[in-house]
Amino acid sequence: MISFKKIVLTALCAASAIATRAQMPGTLSLLGDNHVFYRLQVKQRFLLLPVEERQENARLCIIKNNEIVKEFNCKLAVDKTDYTVPLDLNDYQGSDILIDITFPGNRRTTGSMKDFVVWKELKTSDSFDATNREKYRPVYHHTPQWGWMNDPNGLFYKDGVWHLYFQYNPYGSQWENMTWGHSTSKDLVHWVHQGNAISPDALGTIFSGSAIVDKNNTSGLGKGTVVAMYTSAGKSQTQSLAYSTDDGKTFTKYANNPVITAEVPDFRDPHMFWNEDIHAWNLILAAGQEMNIYSSKDLKNWTFESAFGLGYGNHDGVWECPDLMKLPVNGTGKEKWLLICNINPGGPFGGSATQYFVGSFDGHKFTCESKPDVTKWMDYGKDHYATVTFDNAPDNRRVAIAWMSNWQYANQVPTMQYRSANSVPRDLGLFTDAGETYVSVVPSKELLALRGDKTNRLSAACELVVDIKSQSKPTVITLSNARDEQVVMTYNPKDCTFSMDRTQSGNTGFSDMFKAKTIAPTHGTIRQLRIFIDKCSIEAFDAAGKMAMTNLVFPTEPYGRLTVNGAAKTTLYELK
Ligand code: FRU
Repeated sequence: MISFKKIVLTALCAASAIATRAQMPGTLSLLGDNHVFYRLQVKQRFLLLPVEERQENARLCIIKNNEIVKEFNCKLAVDKTDYTVPLDLNDYQGSDILIDITFPGNRRTTGSMKDFVVWKELKTSDSFDATNREKYRPVYHHTPQWGWMNDPNGLFYKDGVWHLYFQYNPYGSQWENMTWGHSTSKDLVHWVHQGNAISPDALGTIFSGSAIVDKNNTSGLGKGTVVAMYTSAGKSQTQSLAYSTDDGKTFTKYANNPVITAEVPDFRDPHMFWNEDIHAWNLILAAGQEMNIYSSKDLKNWTFESAFGLGYGNHDGVWECPDLMKLPVNGTGKEKWLLICNINPGGPFGGSATQYFVGSFDGHKFTCESKPDVTKWMDYGKDHYATVTFDNAPDNRRVAIAWMSNWQYANQVPTMQYRSANSVPRDLGLFTDAGETYVSVVPSKELLALRGDKTNRLSAACELVVDIKSQSKPTVITLSNARDEQVVMTYNPKDCTFSMDRTQSGNTGFSDMFKAKTIAPTHGTIRQLRIFIDKCSIEAFDAAGKMAMTNLVFPTEPYGRLTVNGAAKTTLYELK
């Protein structure tokens, strides 16, 4: 029954609304100071928001019963719609909501709000069409269905399922509204989207972090509980916990968040792991130009142990997204500790990259075994960042996944429906060359399952295996198309280098920093190269693990032509 009071209220609202449009599902009230109210009676699942990427963000607050129930930023369309994103109204079915929207800037310069395209194109719907519309969407790399993605977060394996959370903007394909999106896979290569796992709250948006499986119930939250720690990015960066008793599907935030605080402004990306050597949890997180290490018995109370990094390696950018793990050193029967330190900018070819340190760790202090001025890079491409590994992977494996982009141009790459993919999964190890220990990076064995038939033709999604038959001359591999767009890869056994030149690779004009030739040391000879091509990316590996290079490319049509100069045997597999 509709009450009299409600009828009066609705009538009053309609009367004060400056602009209403027949096709608009709700009622618009234009207010002063770039401000509007949009009232909607929720009957359908989604409100489809038109986005125009060149605009600045508007602030949207969803108000129900006079209380804010949700807030986020969205580049609402002013002149034209680039794409739409769905605002899920499931929690408000049957209710009236008021959306309080503040546009940026000054109305005198942005034009009259009543003419903004958003009002003409706002729609409610019971479905949102996420069918792929992007020619560059990879075939076998993980991407979000829509919206923006950066770092992989909270990677863990449990009961046959790989879980991949990621830095996600559900309301646009550029960085904003950091939320943990969630995808799962049974085979590490085919992913199923699971929706949003952890959303912003009063402590801030949800920045990067990790997740572990608490097998022995050290936290008291239950045996097998998945515990995540992330950075609450509010006025300050602090560390918060959330836990899941349904295998990572839904998370409950810990009531006494945050659990770790500090006076450092760049204080983020906590990575927890169980350290069998000390029978306790350790955690490493980025604190300015250092990595802080903590320990805990119960995942809730953390003790600061030490900091590592001042004066070591590269410091030309912000230290972010650490990881710390023990790995066997190939062929020695020994183990050493690997400390991963993503850095942005400061990468070997500009912008973001993954550096690392090798040494020892006693549960309290990490000691780097190299001289302070030694810098080591895990991948010598431009598009390999925020690399972290899965907790609890089977067979003591250390499987890493990176974000396949670079902060220099990640927000501008030529896709719209979604932005950014993850790298293929890679197994990490250690090897020694000339007295130094380096990380080895091998494509995870699960990628073999993607191989279809051998083929003679280069296609948009394939693996190219090159067996090098002579170490006396360079091997030059060129991928090209009819428009003379090309990528040239050169293995030079003389100076022990591998390079990839994408300066003529196709669409490079979206950023001055995209054109590049990247070059890697090969630490001796390469006998086999494995090159993974997928629509807009090329990942080249020494099959023995001593060189990895990940680069994006945006050919205006797929590279269909392959030429190999040098003594080499090539095999092509279509990948599905
Ligand atoms: C790295 C990073 C992290 C941070 C996240 C925010 O790419 O800057 O340090 O937690 O992205 O999205």
